[in-house]
Amino acid sequence: MTIHIGANKDDIADVVLMPGDPYRAKWAAETFLTGAKCINEVRGMLGFTGDWNGHRVTIQGSGMGMPSMSIYANELIKDFDVQTLIRIGSCGGMQGHVKVRDVILAQTASTVATPSSTIFKELNFAPTADFGLLHKAFHAAEKMDVDVHVGGIYSSDTFYDERPDLNKEMQRHGILGVEMEAAELYTLAARYGRRALGVMTVSDHLLTGEALPADQRERSFGDMIDIALSAAFA
Ligand code: ADE
Repeated sequence: MTIHIGANKDDIADVVLMPGDPYRAKWAAETFLTGAKCINEVRGMLGFTGDWNGHRVTIQGSGMGMPSMSIYANELIKDFDVQTLIRIGSCGGMQGHVKVRDVILAQTASTVATPSSTIFKELNFAPTADFGLLHKAFHAAEKMDVDVHVGGIYSSDTFYDERPDLNKEMQRHGILGVEMEAAELYTLAARYGRRALGVMTVSDHLLTGEALPADQRERSFGDMIDIALSAAFA
């Protein structure tokens, strides 16, 4: 047990999917896993372990933002020895060719700062996905006929942005979408030699103002889980 995860070490699988929303973790476990058991309820940040196609997998909420992701990823890596961590979540589209409902596989995650920034001092570390996971996720998405994009995303500290100029610079440099967690996950995975990937559905668009209706979010979320599980176990 850790401060934020009230599970025994063997309750948690080597592969962990991490949605931001704990209720998405519950829905995903009930929908995709067999024999799913709730392994964490501390602070309502639900986690479940079950089986997918004969593989053991945990789905644990990360909460919103990099400080929250940092807490759960640190504990999963250092205390539970998790090897593969895949963020599944939503993002805002930042390029014209990236449409609402499309899936983005985050090859890199640019930031202003992460909870790890203080250790890098003047260095601009480049948080990067695990190539093996990225490669497998891309092929899984293509096979499923999902509209998928691979490239850089922006991990922001704010949802309600007071710096539109920053978004503009990100867009000018080809960044596909904005979310709030992947850069810290990638940084921790790099530090501890684990595999990490971010699979994101475009739920809203910064250029068009379009937003995915609630009833359509679930289906897109399901595609992401299929892609993530296929990448982890292919
Ligand atoms: N997650 C989903 N949409 C987002 C946005 N527009 N900004 C930051 N995170 C997001």
